[in-house]
Amino acid sequence: MELLIEKIKKEGSVLSSSVLKVDSFLNHQIDPQLMLEIGKEFAQRFADSGITKILTIESSGIAPAVMAGLQLNVPVVFARKRKSLTLVNNLITASVYSFTKEETSEISVSNQYLTENDKVLIIDDFLANGQAALGLAEIASKAKASIAGIGIVIEKGFQDGGSLLRDKGYTVESLATISSLEDGIVSFEQQTTE
Ligand code: G4P
Ligand code: NA
Ligand code: NA
Repeated sequence: MELLIEKIKKEGSVLSSSVLKVDSFLNHQIDPQLMLEIGKEFAQRFADSGITKILTIESSGIAPAVMAGLQLNVPVVFARKRKSLTLVNNLITASVYSFTKEETSEISVSNQYLTENDKVLIIDDFLANGQAALGLAEIASKAKASIAGIGIVIEKGFQDGGSLLRDKGYTVESLATISSLEDGIVSFEQQTTE
């Protein structure tokens, strides 16, 4: 997605050879106009998939997920990372291991909002090692919902998540794929769609 790639080139900063900072439009401040375009792009890529629900994880997945939900006219559910005061019963949970934090955390969704009749589009801001997406897929599976695909705003193609998810048979659509962050330079993979 050209608009997103231009934004990353303009405002992204390379923190290390594996971490890209995009706090000015995605992870802290949010650019609503760009998010709307991102939502349209996801909606277009999954237009014929019969999506009934979008599933994401707090916090940075929510903005792109809501915009995709707006375009596809379906509700958006976000998995919680912390226990909620009101969300206590009938939780579907999955364990997610973080390679960066070297810890496992539990994510949860109420079974009220995810059922066997749902066809789910999983959305997240970043794809690194794929553990968050796998956890969301596990939750969808536990709810007996089917998974139409996984939409990612920024995929780090040099990390394992993309091949892990694709090898498992998931359709993964990434709007920008970074091939390298070496030497402080953001390099992109050749775009295959559009
Ligand atoms: P890992 O697999 O590489 O170990 O990373 P992990 O999934 O544990 O991700 C830790 C957090 O870092 C996640 O956000 C993830 O989206 C984010 N992340 C991973 N790689 C990058 C990157 O290159 N740049 C940026 N900006 N973020 C990255 P989170 O902690 O769940 O936070 P949030 O969703 O509340 O923002
Ligand atoms: Na994040
Ligand atoms: Na995220």
